Amino acid sequence: MCGIVGYIGSREVSSVLVDGLKRLEYRGYDSCGIAIMDEGKPNVVRSVGRIDALEEKIKAAQPTNGSVKCGIGHTRWATHGRPSETNSHPHRDCTGRFYVAHNGIIENYLCLKHRLSAEGHRFQTETDTEVLPHLIESYYNGNLEEAVHRALQDVEGVYGIVVVSTEGDGRKIVAARNGPPIVVGMGSGEYFVASDVPALLPYTRNVVFLRDGEVAVVGSQGVEIRDSSGVCMCREPETITWTADMAEKEGYSHFMLKEIHEQPRAIRDTLLGRLAGEGAITLSSELGNPAILADMARLHIVAMGTSLHAAYIGKFLIETLARVPVEVDNASEFRYRDAIVGPKAVVAGISQSGETADTLAAMKEARDKGAYLLSVCNVVGSQAARQSDAVIYTHAGPEIGVASTKAFTTQLVALYLLALQLAQLRCTLPQPEIERHVRELRDVPDQINKLLDQSQAISSLAEKFWRYRNFLYLGRGIHHPIAMEGALKLKEISYIHAEAYAAGEMKHGPIALIDQEMPVVVLAPQDAVYRKTMGNIEEVKVRDGIVIAIATEGDHEIARLADYTVYIPDAHPFINPILSTIPLQLFAYHVAVLRRCDVDKPRNLAKSVTVE
Ligand code: F6R
Repeated sequence: MCGIVGYIGSREVSSVLVDGLKRLEYRGYDSCGIAIMDEGKPNVVRSVGRIDALEEKIKAAQPTNGSVKCGIGHTRWATHGRPSETNSHPHRDCTGRFYVAHNGIIENYLCLKHRLSAEGHRFQTETDTEVLPHLIESYYNGNLEEAVHRALQDVEGVYGIVVVSTEGDGRKIVAARNGPPIVVGMGSGEYFVASDVPALLPYTRNVVFLRDGEVAVVGSQGVEIRDSSGVCMCREPETITWTADMAEKEGYSHFMLKEIHEQPRAIRDTLLGRLAGEGAITLSSELGNPAILADMARLHIVAMGTSLHAAYIGKFLIETLARVPVEVDNASEFRYRDAIVGPKAVVAGISQSGETADTLAAMKEARDKGAYLLSVCNVVGSQAARQSDAVIYTHAGPEIGVASTKAFTTQLVALYLLALQLAQLRCTLPQPEIERHVRELRDVPDQINKLLDQSQAISSLAEKFWRYRNFLYLGRGIHHPIAMEGALKLKEISYIHAEAYAAGEMKHGPIALIDQEMPVVVLAPQDAVYRKTMGNIEEVKVRDGIVIAIATEGDHEIARLADYTVYIPDAHPFINPILSTIPLQLFAYHVAVLRRCDVDKPRNLAKSVTVE
């Protein structure tokens, strides 16, 4: 999500840091900053917005006299605390001796913040990260790496960090990793640290990737790496052969493919801090006034495109689990149809960007009608988040490919959590049931990893189908919106005409289209409507249609009927939509690549539709 850089050497440090941050711009960010240790004096410059603005501020501040050799920098993609100069990294302790840049989420930061505040520490930001410099301050006893090591023992969550200090000669960077990557670049007489390889490429291709739990001390004379129990690790540098473009995509050929593969991580981050123990949902603190949600008479959801498909799934989850009636509207329709927003109604906007004009306008319309506003957003501090009474963030990280992938599956997870939280507040589900859902949710990242292993098989399937000009997608119940999402993914990136129908609708018209030129993708995991969907597959087959089925692992019956079967792991019917999305994303991706389409920037489309 965020970008990290660090440098020790004889070059002008602020230039190296700014250059490194610019090379990480593709990750997306909302603010940035650097901290330079200048002969025992800290120089910190931070800015909201583009790195160019930071550069101007650095020029104006003239932070170094040229003799300075050590510093760290950061581009922030806000997760805890809105984008602002105060919340941008590096963060400091009370005394101004320790500076930390962090990528990740400190899950137990509230608990640590209370403890540190009670001990007399003064906090200046809304971030989770700020607990780190204060912890380091409290443990510092003349040895920075020792203090970092002890601080990290108190922390739950995921992190890639770099730490600098004015103590000693101030020429040391301590870096640590648990989750988000940290890579150390070995130059000749100079050393680099970064969250991503592109920041290092102009300077060195010899790198060491830290492993989870490792702490590196990067000094002017070399690098020492220790594992979590303090044992010194001898690690030979690897030589990077990637080009800058390949490195930005971490070796994937497109951002879309990278983002598809990021889904296990993105879902883990979305669950992080929202589940406690076996079955408690701890989302209440993010719901503003949870009593309003517990007592609502109706929930209206407004959204566009892929986010609208997530909303339809949300309706199933919330109505079934929390027994609240849910209406879903295309936001561009809601805003003009003078919708009835009754008393005790809550309106939720779902938006990856939080900047979609129609969704914002529908939310405003609802607000004018007196609704309590909730949003499900990926971009912290976005317009949708700012105009809402409560926000549930999906922690997908920046989505660069225009076609939404990880934002969608994290929206599904966030809505699932909301449904369970409402069920808990409204006492509509017995506790053992909630615990079962929680266990199922925790398994999702590993199940997606299994599905991603099928990428090659799906690529082979795409080779059979990329020349077709029309596709039909069918699904029933909770899989109807997934059929819509599959069809949208295919049409937007490969320009193939694809239509989605509720499978029960087939006989009412679409069946006339079936012939050998019309492949039909059928979502048929084993759930309550499985038999009905099997009936639809029969209808397609007797009309010489070609069926690609998405089915539950072990279902041999469907394999005998369908022409091609892609299996998803056996899971709860509410988890199935998340899992069946993955092969559909991969299929659309591979078809688009075979058709030589511009996968990450499809024609006529924008990532954020900020006009009507
Ligand atoms: C499709 C896609 C779009 C967006 C839609 C809403 O892959 O990305 O359909 O889902 O433009 O965008 P957000 O979620 O930012 O409001």
